[in-house]
Amino acid sequence: MRVLVIGSGAREHALVARLASEGDVAELVCAPGNPGISAIARTAPADISQPETLVRLADHEQIDLTVVGPELPLSLGIVDRFTEQGRLIFGPTAQAARLESSKAFAKAFMARHGVPTARFRTCETADQALASVGSGEFGFPVVLKADGLAAGKGVVIAADRGEAEAAITAAMIERRFGQAGARLVVEECLDGPEVSFFAVSDGTRALPIGAAQDHKRIFDDDQGPNTGGMGAFAPSPLVDEPLQARVMHNVVEPVVNGMAAEGYPFRGFLYVGLMVTDAGPKVIEFNVRLGDPEAQVILPRLADPLLQLIAAAAAGKLRQRMCRLSPDKLAGVVLASRGYPESSESGQPISGIEEAERTPGVTVYHGGTARRDGQLVTAGGRVLTVVGRAGALAEAIARAYAGALHISFDGMQYRRDIGRKALSRL
Ligand code: AMP
Ligand code: GLY
Repeated sequence: MRVLVIGSGAREHALVARLASEGDVAELVCAPGNPGISAIARTAPADISQPETLVRLADHEQIDLTVVGPELPLSLGIVDRFTEQGRLIFGPTAQAARLESSKAFAKAFMARHGVPTARFRTCETADQALASVGSGEFGFPVVLKADGLAAGKGVVIAADRGEAEAAITAAMIERRFGQAGARLVVEECLDGPEVSFFAVSDGTRALPIGAAQDHKRIFDDDQGPNTGGMGAFAPSPLVDEPLQARVMHNVVEPVVNGMAAEGYPFRGFLYVGLMVTDAGPKVIEFNVRLGDPEAQVILPRLADPLLQLIAAAAAGKLRQRMCRLSPDKLAGVVLASRGYPESSESGQPISGIEEAERTPGVTVYHGGTARRDGQLVTAGGRVLTVVGRAGALAEAIARAYAGALHISFDGMQYRRDIGRKALSRL
């Protein structure tokens, strides 16, 4: 099979690394990829916000199956375009991708199908949002979410009325997130640990592929601003067999059945962001793709071939026993640039990746890297994910940090406590 992977981050590096290790892939192309990916697959320059150019690339490369990493091309309808051309692609259509690209859609959908989530109100104007916050309906803190994609910056947890008003003004009047802030979801603030739960769906059936825990804040002990994710571990000890069955039954199955019943079957990876509250697991958000850095710790645990799983799901032919999981534990530590998440420095030379990968059980995935005059340099906020794998989580964490110690670039920052919350629980 000739396979195309779309994207350029550490999640896509993990997808490509896994596919490259499987025998059935005759040719592997990644667009646009990154220097880590180009060491194991062919890369092709591409603008992922232009579905049309990706269709042409797939034609030119005679691709049999395309896998989409990030949400942007999905929300722009890349799956619709490929399907119109008769090309097999794994991911949701633009209509189905609204589970992620519109929080108002996702909340209304959950309400229609009885999926447990925080109480909410969707507001079309700033006055409505101000009235909703002022009515005391949700109390404080209250959560305010821009409807559309806002690169992880569209959610504010407002401690009081002043913070809520500032957030409403920024999103709806100043339009800080552009059109994404035209509508706002006001919702009840939930309490409890967060889990990223993953399933793969072929449009009518879904199978779980494991749960991970992300570390979203920039600093240790969950301090500082939110980021795209500073590290993750899998499996999550919070998700035992009964909880997994409950999430499949109360969330994943109603989503898959509801989307099909409403006329936009969901095919793709479904990422359920959950908060495990005293009243049970509740959905914080849906993403219609794998997480980053979660993919880096979820994919290596798949004991069955990823290519077969994706090809079957893309063709609507998912079967039980296609995604058995290894008992191994994985921990991934993100090495970020100075200034992240507000800004990020680029162009700093990176050293030590080969030494890191000589550490037993350690793999390094490239996120924001580039090659300049033969030298590997930083090119973005989240530069690398160093993943450790072992039979026990404590050892996986120790390996990831032992690997990270070999790597350096000016301004490198990372959390020292990835996975600690799981160790204290175990
Ligand atoms: P989201 O972009 O929806 O994932 O939200 C970003 C982060 O805000 C989540 O990872 C949570 O930590 C937090 N969050 C979102 N919704 C809620 C909620 N209803 N209650 C408490 N925290 C929330
Ligand atoms: N790590 C969070 C995300 O991928 O959305």
